[in-house]
Amino acid sequence: MVNNVKKEVKTYWDFRSQSYDDSPGHSGFVDIWRTVLSETFKGKMKILDVGCGTGFLSLILAELGHEVVGIDLSEGMLSKAEKKAGDLGLNIDFIIGDAENLPFDDGSFDIVVERHILWTLPNPDKAIKEWSRVIKNEGKLILIESEKKEENVGSHHYNEEIAKELPFSNGIDLEKFKEIANKCSLTFKVETLNCEKINLMIICE
Ligand SMILES: C[S@@+](CC[C@H](N)C(=O)[O-])C[C@H]1O[C@@H](n2cnc3c(N)ncnc32)[C@H](O)[C@@H]1O
Repeated sequence: MVNNVKKEVKTYWDFRSQSYDDSPGHSGFVDIWRTVLSETFKGKMKILDVGCGTGFLSLILAELGHEVVGIDLSEGMLSKAEKKAGDLGLNIDFIIGDAENLPFDDGSFDIVVERHILWTLPNPDKAIKEWSRVIKNEGKLILIESEKKEENVGSHHYNEEIAKELPFSNGIDLEKFKEIANKCSLTFKVETLNCEKINLMIICE
């Protein structure tokens, strides 16, 4: 079942890649995000952007001088990211792969960051464990997500059957998240972002 879910998710994002950047919620407010990211990520760090999509966070972080690797399931999304990085003359390593099974050694990154991907994973617990694995001892995991809503946002993107397989498809239930963080021995704090749809920053150590 899970393989089928991932296949459907990938098909959706390959299709969606054509119009993803047209939405201001996806590619806009760059100055605001640059400020948030420069306040959060100090110094020069090696950063993994999981589910990097068309490269929104990766591009800003590379512009800020960090060494960035972006990974995503969808070739369509990644080809947009590569084109934008090329146009801006930024050197970012974009890799096709699964956020729940990362092709990196333990402790490879100072920071793992993601924006709006946890909601679309069938195994968020496995993903968080995997993201923690590739972070160095003193590193951080930074999740930029939406708070839990009554409506099932997942079903706006996928059919009901697929949405049912995604535990955070209606946003991040912080109680459920706490259970996962405890299992992964992570402590976390939550900051509220002034952004309508993507309004939580969860910083885990
Ligand atoms: C809402 S988009 C977010 C893209 C980007 N992080 C951003 O902030 O614009 C969700 C992304 O997650 C990717 N994705 C979904 N499941 C994934 C998985 N198992 N592994 C890697 N990427 C995945 C999709 O291909 C898509 O690019």
